Amino acid sequence: MSVTIKSEREIELMRQAGKILAKVHEELEKEVKPGISTFHLDRLGEELIRSFGCEPSFKNYQGYPASICISVNEEVVHGIPSKERILREGDIVSLDAGVLYKGYHSDAARTHGVGSISEEARLLIERTRQSFFEGMKYAVAGKHLHEISRAIGDYAQSFGYGVVTDLCGHGIGSHLHEEPEIPNTRQFRRGIKLRQGMTLAVEPMINAGTGEVLWMDDDWTVVTEDMSLSAHYENTIVITEGRPEILTLTERELTEGIWQ
Ligand code: MF3
Ligand code: CO
Repeated sequence: MSVTIKSEREIELMRQAGKILAKVHEELEKEVKPGISTFHLDRLGEELIRSFGCEPSFKNYQGYPASICISVNEEVVHGIPSKERILREGDIVSLDAGVLYKGYHSDAARTHGVGSISEEARLLIERTRQSFFEGMKYAVAGKHLHEISRAIGDYAQSFGYGVVTDLCGHGIGSHLHEEPEIPNTRQFRRGIKLRQGMTLAVEPMINAGTGEVLWMDDDWTVVTEDMSLSAHYENTIVITEGRPEILTLTERELTEGIWQ
């Protein structure tokens, strides 16, 4: 399958899927506090997703056993929710979720602090989010895909952070993962030319230490090799002739203006 251009009808469905996912994240964030299990967050997330008439995109995807990926501290992505994993004050937790609405997916991730967190952790979360928006400056029809990658990677690396290169963003639509793959660091080639109507999930995964990662024995959970903290920020976007349309922001984020 090659990179597809979505019709206005398809984009409208993805807008709906994106709005719903933004609400799910908004609700989940309120539940992030010391003492709560990652299992509880997954349960709540799945209930919310279904209450909007959607399916959780991740459930059973390649055998993934839950609805939300919940990754704590040195866990980068794909953490499996568990009753035994209790969030504690000072942790950081990445919530990654996808919803399927009328045949179309949206995908977004956020990292939150649990109670009060260190300045180091706060900055990592904030700069990971900003690296996404640095990438957005190049997410314009006529530019090339890897201009986004370079902007993300250069920004994150300017703080000495390690950018994860073993995992990438991706095209998205009627499938959760479509072409193209979207790296988060400089590439030797410029990548495909961006066109209006391409729908992409851009998702920097940034580590406080090395960018190298390992897979745990559950075959899902990805952790930093040096056990340093990791943050994740992801949105589903549509390429236009101007600024990209970011489908997975909340009403508040859109009106208050999250763009820097
Ligand atoms: N946002 C992640 C990704 O795009 C979620 C997929 S995890 C899985 O890779 F559980 F669905 F496999
Ligand atoms: Co994704």
